Amino acid sequence: MKILSIESSCDETAAAVVEDGREVLSSIVASQVEEHKLYGGVVPEIASRRHAECITEVVNEALKSADTTLDEIDAIAVTHAPGLIGALLVGVNFAKGLSLATQKPLVPVHHLRSHIAANYISHKELKPPFLCLVVSGGHSHIVMVESYTKMRIIGRTRDDAAGEAFDKAARTMGIPYPGGIMLDKIAEKGNDSAFTLPRPKVDDAPYDFSFSGLKTAVINIIHNMEQKGEEIPVEDVCASFRKAVVSCLSTNFIKAAKDLSVTTLVTAGGVSANSLLRKELTRECEENGFSLYMPDIKLCGDNAAMVGSQGYYEYLSGNVASLDLNATATLPIDYRE
Ligand code: KG4
Ligand code: ZN
Repeated sequence: MKILSIESSCDETAAAVVEDGREVLSSIVASQVEEHKLYGGVVPEIASRRHAECITEVVNEALKSADTTLDEIDAIAVTHAPGLIGALLVGVNFAKGLSLATQKPLVPVHHLRSHIAANYISHKELKPPFLCLVVSGGHSHIVMVESYTKMRIIGRTRDDAAGEAFDKAARTMGIPYPGGIMLDKIAEKGNDSAFTLPRPKVDDAPYDFSFSGLKTAVINIIHNMEQKGEEIPVEDVCASFRKAVVSCLSTNFIKAAKDLSVTTLVTAGGVSANSLLRKELTRECEENGFSLYMPDIKLCGDNAAMVGSQGYYEYLSGNVASLDLNATATLPIDYRE
C-alpha cells in the first residue's frame, strides 16, 4: 500500500511517499528555519504563509522523486494535531483537497505518534509493545506503546518540554534558534561539572519531568555573570546544562522500564538526536540488558516519511477521516478516534 503523506505542524513543509509503513520511496522537507532564526523562534503567521506558498511544490516533488503519480497512491495521510493551528490547517486542507479530487481515503495522523513511527522506518524489525521516550520541542513524555495505535502515558513534563528548555537556555547565551542542536555541539567541548544544576523531581510522580526550574537556574547563572561583567564560559554552561537535562530524561525513562518490566526501549522526537542522550541511553540499556532503538538522526526532526509510516498503521486500524477533518492545536497522544 502506497501512502502520500503531508506534514506542516511547525516550521517544516514536508511530503513523502511510503510503502507499507516501512519503505520510504521519497521524502521532501522544505525548512523555514533560516527565516524564523531572524526572530529567535517560530513566528506562527510566517510559518502558515510559507507552508501555503510551498506545499504544492513539495507534494509534487515527493511524487516525482518516488517515480509515482496520484493514480498509484492508495491513501493520503496528514498531520492533523498537535501543532501550530494555522500551520496544521495548510496541510490538512491540502490533503482534504487531494482526497476529494482523487477519492482516496484521508488518514489523520497525530504528530507525536508519527515521531514514534520514525523508528519503524529505521528499524524494520521493531514492533510494539515497547516503552518510548518522546522528546520534541513541545512535548516530553514517557509512553507505553501497546500497539501501533494504542498508547498509554506513563510520565509527562509538568511545565517546559526538553527541547523548549534547550532552545531557551541556548537563546540566553545568544545561540540562534533552534538552539538545541548547536548547544549539543558546543557542549562537546565543555566541562560538564563546571556548574552545579538541579535535577528537579516531581513529588509522588517518579516518571514525570519538570524542566522549568532547571532552565531558570541556568538562565540565572548566565544573568548573574553578565551583571558582574564576567565572560560566560559558554562551552561549560552548555555541557553542564545538557548533562542535567539528559540525566533527568534517562533516570526517569530507565526507572519506568525497570518498574514496568519492559525491556524494549525506544526514543522519538527532535531531542532524541542529542548526542549525550544517545550515549547515556546506550550505556544504561547495555548495563540493564535492554534493547534500545533510536531513529536515524535524519528522521529525528520533523518530516513526512514518519507520517506515512504511522498513517499506514492508523489506516489498518480503521482510522480514516471524512472531509470535515479539522486541525487541532492540542490532542493527547493516547486519544481514541
Ligand atoms: O520533534 P521536533 O523536530 O519538533 C517538534 O515536534 O517540536 O523537535 C524540535 C526540538 C527543538 O527544540 C530542537 O532544539 C531540539 O528538538 N533538538 C535538539 C537536538 N536536535 C534538535 N535538542 C538537543 N540536542 C539536539 N541534538
Ligand atoms: Zn515534531
